[in-house]
Amino acid sequence: MAMREIRVLPDPVLRTPCEEITDVDDRVRALVEDLVETVDADGRAGLAANQIGVSLRAFSWNVDDEIGYVLNPRIVELSEEQQDGDEGCLSVPGLWYPTTRAWYARVVGTDLAGDEVVVEGTDLMARCLQHECDHLDGKLYLDRLERGARKRAMRELRERL
Ligand code: NI
Repeated sequence: MAMREIRVLPDPVLRTPCEEITDVDDRVRALVEDLVETVDADGRAGLAANQIGVSLRAFSWNVDDEIGYVLNPRIVELSEEQQDGDEGCLSVPGLWYPTTRAWYARVVGTDLAGDEVVVEGTDLMARCLQHECDHLDGKLYLDRLERGARKRAMRELRERL
Protein backbone atom coordinates (compact mmCIF):
# COMPACT_ATOMS: atom_id res chain seq x y z
CA MET A 1 0.00 0.00 0.00
CA ALA A 2 1.41 3.37 -0.92
CA MET A 3 0.67 6.97 -1.66
CA ARG A 4 1.57 7.08 -5.33
CA GLU A 5 3.00 9.88 -7.40
CA ILE A 6 0.46 11.64 -9.62
CA ARG A 7 1.22 11.69 -13.35
CA VAL A 8 0.83 15.14 -14.87
CA LEU A 9 0.53 16.48 -18.40
CA PRO A 10 2.06 15.84 -20.87
CA ASP A 11 2.49 12.24 -19.67
CA PRO A 12 1.04 10.10 -22.50
CA VAL A 13 -0.57 7.63 -20.06
CA LEU A 14 -3.19 10.34 -19.44
CA ARG A 15 -4.11 10.34 -23.13
CA THR A 16 -4.29 6.55 -23.49
CA PRO A 17 -7.67 4.81 -23.04
CA CYS A 18 -7.42 2.34 -20.16
CA GLU A 19 -8.04 -1.38 -20.54
CA GLU A 20 -10.96 -3.30 -19.08
CA ILE A 21 -10.11 -5.31 -15.95
CA THR A 22 -10.85 -8.93 -16.81
CA ASP A 23 -9.21 -10.63 -13.85
CA VAL A 24 -9.05 -9.42 -10.24
CA ASP A 25 -5.52 -10.51 -9.37
CA ASP A 26 -2.95 -9.24 -6.87
CA ARG A 27 -2.01 -6.43 -9.20
CA VAL A 28 -5.59 -5.16 -9.30
CA ARG A 29 -5.97 -5.51 -5.53
CA ALA A 30 -2.76 -3.51 -5.03
CA LEU A 31 -4.00 -0.90 -7.50
CA VAL A 32 -7.22 -0.42 -5.53
CA GLU A 33 -5.27 -0.03 -2.28
CA ASP A 34 -3.07 2.60 -3.89
CA LEU A 35 -6.04 4.44 -5.44
CA VAL A 36 -7.86 4.57 -2.12
CA GLU A 37 -4.78 5.65 -0.21
CA THR A 38 -3.63 8.24 -2.75
CA VAL A 39 -7.04 9.93 -3.03
CA ASP A 40 -7.14 10.34 0.75
CA ALA A 41 -5.57 13.79 0.95
CA ASP A 42 -6.83 17.34 1.24
CA GLY A 43 -8.10 18.75 -2.02
CA ARG A 44 -8.44 15.37 -3.73
CA ALA A 45 -11.91 14.38 -4.94
CA GLY A 46 -11.15 11.60 -7.37
CA LEU A 47 -8.31 9.62 -8.89
CA ALA A 48 -8.19 7.44 -11.99
CA ALA A 49 -5.76 4.53 -12.33
CA ASN A 50 -3.90 6.09 -15.26
CA GLN A 51 -3.16 9.11 -13.07
CA ILE A 52 -0.88 6.84 -11.06
CA GLY A 53 0.48 5.23 -14.21
CA VAL A 54 -1.71 2.11 -14.44
CA SER A 55 -3.71 1.85 -17.63
CA LEU A 56 -6.63 -0.11 -16.21
CA ARG A 57 -10.27 0.93 -15.81
CA ALA A 58 -10.61 1.82 -12.13
CA PHE A 59 -10.94 4.97 -10.10
CA SER A 60 -11.39 6.12 -6.52
CA TRP A 61 -13.25 9.06 -5.02
CA ASN A 62 -13.12 11.14 -1.86
CA VAL A 63 -16.31 13.19 -1.68
CA ASP A 64 -18.32 14.28 1.36
CA ASP A 65 -16.02 12.32 3.68
CA GLU A 66 -16.64 9.10 1.81
CA ILE A 67 -13.86 7.25 0.03
CA GLY A 68 -14.63 4.51 -2.44
CA TYR A 69 -13.53 2.81 -5.64
CA VAL A 70 -15.05 1.13 -8.63
CA LEU A 71 -13.71 -1.18 -11.32
CA ASN A 72 -14.81 -1.08 -14.96
CA PRO A 73 -17.18 1.84 -14.38
CA ARG A 74 -19.58 2.95 -17.06
CA ILE A 75 -21.97 5.85 -16.97
CA VAL A 76 -25.53 4.58 -17.23
CA GLU A 77 -27.41 7.78 -16.49
CA LEU A 78 -26.82 11.53 -16.66
CA SER A 79 -29.44 14.12 -15.82
CA GLU A 80 -30.49 16.61 -18.45
CA GLU A 81 -30.12 19.23 -15.76
CA GLN A 82 -26.61 20.60 -15.81
CA GLN A 83 -24.26 22.27 -13.36
CA ASP A 84 -21.64 24.93 -13.87
CA GLY A 85 -18.57 25.47 -11.80
CA ASP A 86 -14.83 25.42 -11.90
CA GLU A 87 -13.17 22.08 -12.42
CA GLY A 88 -9.57 21.13 -11.83
CA CYS A 89 -7.46 17.99 -12.14
CA LEU A 90 -4.52 16.65 -10.15
CA SER A 91 -2.83 15.88 -13.45
CA VAL A 92 -3.18 19.49 -14.60
CA PRO A 93 -1.96 21.22 -11.45
CA GLY A 94 -2.88 24.82 -10.75
CA LEU A 95 -5.57 25.20 -13.41
CA TRP A 96 -9.27 25.68 -12.70
CA TYR A 97 -11.78 26.35 -15.47
CA PRO A 98 -15.56 26.46 -15.69
CA THR A 99 -16.79 23.10 -16.97
CA THR A 100 -20.40 22.20 -17.63
CA ARG A 101 -21.42 18.77 -16.35
CA ALA A 102 -24.62 16.89 -15.72
CA TRP A 103 -26.00 17.66 -12.26
CA TYR A 104 -26.62 13.97 -11.54
CA ALA A 105 -24.70 10.90 -12.67
CA ARG A 106 -25.03 7.19 -12.10
CA VAL A 107 -22.21 4.74 -12.74
CA VAL A 108 -22.31 0.95 -12.71
CA GLY A 109 -19.19 -1.16 -12.23
CA THR A 110 -17.85 -3.94 -10.07
CA ASP A 111 -15.94 -4.34 -6.81
CA LEU A 112 -12.96 -6.57 -6.01
CA ALA A 113 -15.30 -9.48 -5.28
CA GLY A 114 -16.74 -9.19 -8.78
CA ASP A 115 -20.11 -7.96 -7.55
CA GLU A 116 -21.93 -5.17 -9.33
CA VAL A 117 -21.84 -1.79 -7.63
CA VAL A 118 -23.84 1.32 -8.39
CA VAL A 119 -22.29 4.69 -7.63
CA GLU A 120 -24.36 7.82 -8.00
CA GLY A 121 -24.56 11.37 -6.83
CA THR A 122 -25.28 14.99 -7.54
CA ASP A 123 -23.18 18.14 -7.57
CA LEU A 124 -19.53 17.38 -6.73
CA MET A 125 -20.03 13.61 -6.74
CA ALA A 126 -21.64 13.73 -10.18
CA ARG A 127 -18.85 15.96 -11.43
CA CYS A 128 -16.27 13.56 -10.02
CA LEU A 129 -17.89 10.50 -11.64
CA GLN A 130 -17.97 12.17 -15.04
CA HIS A 131 -14.43 13.51 -14.68
CA GLU A 132 -12.96 10.14 -13.67
CA CYS A 133 -14.80 8.19 -16.37
CA ASP A 134 -13.34 10.66 -18.87
CA HIS A 135 -9.84 9.91 -17.55
CA LEU A 136 -10.32 6.20 -18.25
CA ASP A 137 -11.10 7.07 -21.87
CA GLY A 138 -7.91 9.12 -22.10
CA LYS A 139 -9.79 12.40 -21.87
CA LEU A 140 -9.27 15.46 -19.68
CA TYR A 141 -11.75 18.08 -18.56
CA LEU A 142 -9.81 20.55 -20.72
CA ASP A 143 -11.32 18.79 -23.75
CA ARG A 144 -14.78 19.80 -22.58
CA LEU A 145 -14.18 23.51 -22.11
CA GLU A 146 -15.93 26.07 -24.24
CA ARG A 147 -13.72 27.54 -26.91
CA GLY A 148 -12.74 30.74 -25.07
CA ALA A 149 -11.93 28.97 -21.81
CA ARG A 150 -10.07 26.26 -23.69
CA LYS A 151 -7.85 28.83 -25.41
CA ARG A 152 -7.07 30.48 -22.08
CA ALA A 153 -6.37 27.10 -20.48
CA MET A 154 -4.02 26.05 -23.30
CA ARG A 155 -2.13 29.34 -23.01
CA GLU A 156 -1.83 28.96 -19.24
CA LEU A 157 -0.69 25.38 -19.69
CA ARG A 158 2.01 26.35 -22.18
CA GLU A 159 3.30 28.96 -19.78
CA ARG A 160 3.53 26.41 -16.99
CA LEU A 161 5.11 23.48 -18.83
NI1 NI B 1 -8.50 14.56 -13.11
